[in-house]
Amino acid sequence: MKDVSANADAKRLAGEAAAELVRSGMVVGLGTGSTVAWTIRRLGARIEAEGLDFLGVPTSFQAESLAIECGISLTTLNQHSVLDLAIDGADQVDADLFAIKGGGAAHTREKVVACSARRFVIVADESKYAKKLTWPVPVEVLPFAYRPAERWLRALGGEPVLRLGRMKDGPVITDNGNFVLDVNFGTIEEPAALASKMNAVAGVVGHGIFESVDELYLAGMGGGIKRIKRD
Ligand code: A5P
Repeated sequence: MKDVSANADAKRLAGEAAAELVRSGMVVGLGTGSTVAWTIRRLGARIEAEGLDFLGVPTSFQAESLAIECGISLTTLNQHSVLDLAIDGADQVDADLFAIKGGGAAHTREKVVACSARRFVIVADESKYAKKLTWPVPVEVLPFAYRPAERWLRALGGEPVLRLGRMKDGPVITDNGNFVLDVNFGTIEEPAALASKMNAVAGVVGHGIFESVDELYLAGMGGGIKRIKRD
């Protein structure tokens, strides 16, 4: 589907720029969403034009389908448990390079892939950048445990809402067969502390606070890219 949003050009700029980081021989994590889709398309074009030869590890059904369409050879974390690089989008990134992901409900696999990579790069348009994180945190939960998990997430100060399908009655089901709670914590003053508290909630399979971003490719609406590295 064509992206007609105001930031579509900036997403493309960031996504395509990060595709230049890939070299032949690498194993690369391929993220999910409309921004990193431009990375995947550009990688397909580089395979065609330059014979770029690398292996991709997709983070979702969507990323896998697009990668196949673009002629990218795929592998799995079981075959390659250490990746050279992972590239992905985000829903929000703060000044310390903490990120919130999971707007597309792919964050659990995305985090496994990001944590397996020697270098994790986020691609985003400038609307995603904020001084502090405020986006509701997507939390993937076992369907069996979603009610008690809601209660425990409330005890951490969050307001959970079960994510519902658009063209399907009932909840969104992730690629792993689970539910997603979007949990509004207001302004998140200490993302690392909140992340470790949510890690300890029984029934939580994965949450959308990412702590391992090495670099951000941030594209402005008027063109131009800032590359912000973790200190
Ligand atoms: C997928 O679950 C998400 O983590 C996406 O990476 C994130 O929502 C960014 O998507 P866009 O690039 O489409 O904004």
